[in-house]
Amino acid sequence: MKEVIIVENLKKSFGENVVHDGITFSVYDGEIFVIMGPSGTGKSVLLKQIAGLMKPDSGKVVVYGMDILNLDEEELVRFRETLTYVFQHGALFDSLPVWHNVAFYLIEKKGIKEKEAREKARYYLSLLGLSGTEDHYPSELSGGMKKRVALARALCMNPKCILFDEPTSGLDPVMTVIFDRLILRLKKEFKKTCIVVTHDVNSAFRIADRIAILWNGKIVQIGTPEEIKHSENPVVKQFINGEPEGPITIAMEQGNG
Ligand SMILES: Nc1ncnc2c1ncn2[C@@H]1O[C@H](COP(=O)(O)OP(=O)(O)OP(=O)(O)O)[C@@H](O)[C@H]1O
Ligand SMILES: [Mg+2]
Repeated sequence: MKEVIIVENLKKSFGENVVHDGITFSVYDGEIFVIMGPSGTGKSVLLKQIAGLMKPDSGKVVVYGMDILNLDEEELVRFRETLTYVFQHGALFDSLPVWHNVAFYLIEKKGIKEKEAREKARYYLSLLGLSGTEDHYPSELSGGMKKRVALARALCMNPKCILFDEPTSGLDPVMTVIFDRLILRLKKEFKKTCIVVTHDVNSAFRIADRIAILWNGKIVQIGTPEEIKHSENPVVKQFINGEPEGPITIAMEQGNG
């Protein structure tokens, strides 16, 4: 299997707060790689470093052969088209209608004519069950719709890899399953590689090829859903089963969690 994202000995601190203390893993082409772990363990910070939105203190991140800490200008353009980040709350422009939010990159960065960009936006919106919302404004949409608009915008850039930060948080159980299916479809039909951060254990087990559990600055285990379900690691066990007693809560009580 081809490794398309390589993270090597990544370290990141904010002052005294050591968030990543040597993180190493690879993501394979076309897989759904899920990252889980208690709140505040640095999942979002990890995604931001892979997306080039935050700089690690040390270590290496290689995305489709590009060392993202040393990109030249040509690579920077290629990097932006290879990997997109879907923000937790969508980060839509409230002043632009839905179609323009989706087509923003095509119009502003690629110089594609408005009519053609609008057609593309319409296509991706229809894929996500959002036909008819083109001329609405984000404020008129529900949370789940906004998340899908944000995904349509990412798809419009036709990336090879999509990073999702908590795609289903705040969604009802039905919408969560619909979103999970969407992510599975991105993999199966569109051959996208996805990295998904989620707190939803059921959702992770439904979609993941592999799951990484992050805790205390390190990855404590990487495995298939079956391996994670049957893990003997006390941190993984406590996290997956949502148990109130265990190493995670002990660390929190000691102020290290
Ligand atoms: N820009 C920043 N400046 C300083 N500290 C930060 C910054 N961003 C994140 N942190 C700190 O880094 C740690 C990890 O934050 P992060 O947002 O990655 O956690 P998380 O695992 O995504 O949590 P959650 O599950 O609650 O979303 C936290 O202690 C947080 O306070
Ligand atoms: Mg987060």
